[in-house]
Amino acid sequence: METLLQTEGVDVAYGKRRILHKISMNLSRGEKVLLIGPNGAGKTTLLKTVIGLLSPGNGAVNYLGEDITHASVRTRVRKGISYLLQTENIVPGLTVEENLALGGYFLTREELEKQMNMVLDAMEFLKPKLKTRAGLMSGGERQGLALSMVLMRNPKVLLLDEPSAGLAPKAAKKIIERLDKIQATFQVEMVCMVEHNLKLALKWATEVILLVQGRVVLVSDSPQDFVQKPEELEKYFFGV
Ligand SMILES: Nc1ncnc2c1ncn2[C@@H]1O[C@H](COP(=O)(O)OP(=O)(O)OP(=O)(O)O)[C@@H](O)[C@H]1O
Ligand SMILES: [Mg+2]
Repeated sequence: METLLQTEGVDVAYGKRRILHKISMNLSRGEKVLLIGPNGAGKTTLLKTVIGLLSPGNGAVNYLGEDITHASVRTRVRKGISYLLQTENIVPGLTVEENLALGGYFLTREELEKQMNMVLDAMEFLKPKLKTRAGLMSGGERQGLALSMVLMRNPKVLLLDEPSAGLAPKAAKKIIERLDKIQATFQVEMVCMVEHNLKLALKWATEVILLVQGRVVLVSDSPQDFVQKPEELEKYFFGV
């Protein structure tokens, strides 16, 4: 399968503290990649590096064979890479409609309208809430809105950082089960998701990457093998 997104020997530090150590990964077209690991392993740091919010000290990030290591976030988004932040991913004081418009901030007026209709068809629960202040909605609805804002950018590659974080089990299930439909509707070519909800996410994924203390310790293209026994993966979390 064709490699879409690649990191090559990526090192990332906050100040003097090195968080990621020589991360090399190939994410191919058509893959649904699940990125897992214990708290503080560096999952968010890795996604932020791919989207360009952080710069690697060493190594490179390539997209469709092009070196984008030093490209701005804006350039990467225009090229089709989109990122759902783990926290603060909506503006609570704005309405649903205003948040969606913010998600598509660089679209022309016509594009914005077309994309908003498409997003609302896929996320039908937002339709009656367009004039509602986002902060007044439930956690599940807010995460649905956050994902919708990312979809406003018409992404080819979706990077999702814990889309079900903080949600009740039912809402978490809904959002993960919705992903396949979203991917088909928006013709998303690759999704890389961080998720702690292993049972649900392993069923969804085609590849799983395990990160521990800033290093890739396991890559498997048969996540299904772990569905019945997620503890097989969890044991790596603590290095036993
Ligand atoms: N802005 C920052 N400044 C300094 N250190 C940071 C910063 N953000 C994260 N870190 C540190 O970097 C390490 C990796 O953090 P990161 O958020 O990438 O982990 P994570 O795998 O996403 O964890 P979680 O599962 O809790 O979201 C942690 O030790 C964290 O304390
Ligand atoms: Mg994180």
